[in-house]
Amino acid sequence: MALNIVIMAAGKGTRMRSARPKVLHALAGRPLLQHVLDAAAGLGAERTIVVTGHGGDAVERQMAGAHLAFVRQEPQLGTGHALQQAAPLLGGGDDDTTLILNGDVPLIESRTLRTLVDACAGARLALLTVQLDDPHGYGRIVRSASGAAIEAIVEEKDATAAQRAVHEVYTGAMAAPTGALRRWLAALRNDNAAGEFYLTDIVAMAVAEGVVVTAAAAGSETEVLGVNSAAQLADLERRHQRATAERLMASGVRLADPARIDVRGELICGSDVEIDVGCIFEGRVELGDGVRVGAYCMLRNASVAAGATLRPYTHIDGEGLGVSVGSGAIVGPFARLRGGAVLGSDVHVGNFVEVKNATLGAGAKANHLAYIGDATLGARVNFGAGAIVANYDGANKHRTVVGDDAHIGSNAVLVAPVEVGAAATVGAGSTIARDAPAGQLTVARARQSSLAGWKRPTKG
Ligand code: UD1
Ligand code: CA
Repeated sequence: MALNIVIMAAGKGTRMRSARPKVLHALAGRPLLQHVLDAAAGLGAERTIVVTGHGGDAVERQMAGAHLAFVRQEPQLGTGHALQQAAPLLGGGDDDTTLILNGDVPLIESRTLRTLVDACAGARLALLTVQLDDPHGYGRIVRSASGAAIEAIVEEKDATAAQRAVHEVYTGAMAAPTGALRRWLAALRNDNAAGEFYLTDIVAMAVAEGVVVTAAAAGSETEVLGVNSAAQLADLERRHQRATAERLMASGVRLADPARIDVRGELICGSDVEIDVGCIFEGRVELGDGVRVGAYCMLRNASVAAGATLRPYTHIDGEGLGVSVGSGAIVGPFARLRGGAVLGSDVHVGNFVEVKNATLGAGAKANHLAYIGDATLGARVNFGAGAIVANYDGANKHRTVVGDDAHIGSNAVLVAPVEVGAAATVGAGSTIARDAPAGQLTVARARQSSLAGWKRPTKG
């Protein structure tokens, strides 16, 4: 069976009051339209067509991907008109299925779409419906007197008072036989209250032709809610985050407060992971067994090995290179790990320490106020308070290498490229621009002197 999927994403989204096209607004770190595409991806469609219009250039640029075709709808004369633009791109035979989705309904689930496609089976018109306490604004499902057969969808603007009292509404997702859909689209008219071509008018056409119209019920209200305003976007974000939190807790993760965690990507947790309030996870984050994440940490593209502790306000951004924190390491509070930071086991990185593109060997410590960039520190190195690596000469970045068991004194500057040998000691306040030999004390600073009898100047 050759399945087509059409996603409508041409509307303006006026109520968002934003210059950004509505379907590009992010939910859990991904554009709304990306959520719909991801849900649709599992269906194995032959082709997926996205109807763009408002902000079409931006949408097409950001969503470009395999098996995606775009079609422009200019001007936007309604959902039926949107489908008319896509009709020439529909593939497969008349008895195949075309699934139609709204680009602004992001939490729709794959299995629901599968149910809809199966209910159509290339022969019936299958509508995804839901019962809403407040059906305001939605197209109402009109049934026959017996209540058994669907007769039409009536838009709110065109509905009678009796029809408005109906709580069963159309969610914006349907599956139709491709051949019949082409025929119905060609016959749409815009003689209604909005002066638009309504896709929903095809229901009455199907009934008139004797095509069976069936309703598939949505799994939950949440999965069919649309985003039309900033408030609705925030509401869906919280619902989605709550569901993610429930899943994490079900797998044994202990969240201090399921209402105060944000996962904007993939969070993979071992057993006995504890996460305090206010943490944000982006990209792909992996937390090993027994990892503890303190309050208000932010982690992006990072992996934290078993037994490590991230103290509050730790900021980890792996950027493209990733960050890895070794087992038993203690990081923070107020530490910053950037792309390419690799901390060995039992490393301690304390407050106001920045590590970028650098490896710290097992048991190394940098506990206070340090910058370690483009460097390799051996095992058990002690990097003193206020010590930094000067890795940038104004044009190029250079590497610093520090051997095992070396001690770098407080406020030292290691001017890269430079090497400090194993078990070397660098005196506090030294500026090290040449290699410091292993096992020796290297001091590079003015010798301390005191002038006896010196008098401070006085005002004349
Ligand atoms: C539509 C349905 C309504 C349903 C509701 C569910 C119609 C006529 N009505 O109403 O029965 O209850 O969805 O959310 O279909 N779009 C285009 N081109 C256009 C107009 C819209 O691509 O010319 C896109 C929008 O970007 C959006 C989707 O179609 O993704 C739905 O459009 P919208 O205007 O929000 O329809 P509703 O009035 O909500
Ligand atoms: Ca809508």
